[in-house]
Amino acid sequence: MTHRRNFLKSLSSTALVSPLLSRAGLAQTPANTRPLAGAEDPAYWEKVRDQFLLPRDKVFFNNGTIGAMPKVVLERTVEHLRKMATDLADWDYRGEEWISGYSDMAGIRAKAARLLNADVKEVALTENVTAAMSYVASGLDLEAGSEILIGNQEHVGGQSPWFNAAKRHQASVKTVVLPRPIHSRDEVLDIVTKAMTPATRVIAISHVITGSGAILPAREICAEARRRGIFTVLDGAQSFGHIGVDVRDLGCDAYVGCFHKWLLAPAGNGFLYIRKDRGKDVWSSVASGQWDNHNDDGYRFTQRGTGSMSMMMGLDAALDFHFEIGPERIQKRVKYLGDHLRAGLRGIPKVKIFSPDDEAMCAGITVYGVEGITGQRLQDEMWTRGRLRPRSSGATGVRHCTHIFNSPAEIDRALAIVRTLAEG
Ligand SMILES: Cc1ncc(COP(=O)(O)O)c(C=O)c1O
Repeated sequence: MTHRRNFLKSLSSTALVSPLLSRAGLAQTPANTRPLAGAEDPAYWEKVRDQFLLPRDKVFFNNGTIGAMPKVVLERTVEHLRKMATDLADWDYRGEEWISGYSDMAGIRAKAARLLNADVKEVALTENVTAAMSYVASGLDLEAGSEILIGNQEHVGGQSPWFNAAKRHQASVKTVVLPRPIHSRDEVLDIVTKAMTPATRVIAISHVITGSGAILPAREICAEARRRGIFTVLDGAQSFGHIGVDVRDLGCDAYVGCFHKWLLAPAGNGFLYIRKDRGKDVWSSVASGQWDNHNDDGYRFTQRGTGSMSMMMGLDAALDFHFEIGPERIQKRVKYLGDHLRAGLRGIPKVKIFSPDDEAMCAGITVYGVEGITGQRLQDEMWTRGRLRPRSSGATGVRHCTHIFNSPAEIDRALAIVRTLAEG
């Protein structure tokens, strides 16, 4: 708790407080209060940057793989790990749980549910996205001959559970081919809708595509699927903590995601949202005491045997950190930085952007390449020339993510390297 207080104090000391910080008893006097910091307010974001341990001489641009934990998250995790190592004999098995995997973890689930606009009983904590997607794919009763629709740009963790389920049930996986770059929302909706047939039982597709950052028209896809009685599950690995996710508005049956990328929690923290009336359709794949609890399906899927409460404590701190800055403010900052990057790239000849042409379909993930330069080389040049770390996305380019610990100046450094390479 000490660390949490320190974080609040540090942020509020600049008088750039959010309503949440004010409510925490750290409200500013009217004299030094000014309007809430916007996406482009350098002083505020510099203060946020101070909450991270990332050294200033190395720039991390790969949140799409794993997020950088803020100090409070690390400290809370380590504090609990230390307690596990030193004070274990004090645990009298009453009250507070020292391990996860058996209890309902309702406090953390409620915070995640709030971010998703879901009911706490609809949200389960899982190890990661792959586990959450596997719970859905392995838990559904699929008749032989049924068809599962997935996108051609899905991550292995999002698609493999469906190949596994299809083989087991003599069903088939049909892959819809989306272009890269995607040109418009209508284009995607048209392609996905045309691929739906009377045999389609499930659509499993990314909300944000990992290899381009495209934000798909998930709401419209789910609405069309619902009209046809098709079960929808959205892969939110790259969306949660990055763009707004409102499962009620999206109208999906299930939504899988993680906290260890854009929400900046320790690795090994994912979730499964399963709509209340759909819980009964998904069997437990990992069965413990709650295996048949359809009153609280979120608890049922959360229960998976002994797990690390320390990682859960880190997750809890990451959720608090996210709320303290404010989900919307984070989303705006991430998008602002992504826009800054793409605007700069568009002015460089020989650069090809694989993220959508439509800016409304982009936020903090940009995938681009330089003609004649492999993604691996571009990744390496960024590191050797500037200690910048985007990630190679294969032959064509790099995936370059922007998050709240990044700055426009860091992006400008990356752009300068790209410009030099393009001209060379
Ligand atoms: C779209 C997508 N789905 C699934 C995954 C797998 O996530 P996890 O490693 O948490 O299982 C990733 C990881 O990068 C991803 O980008």
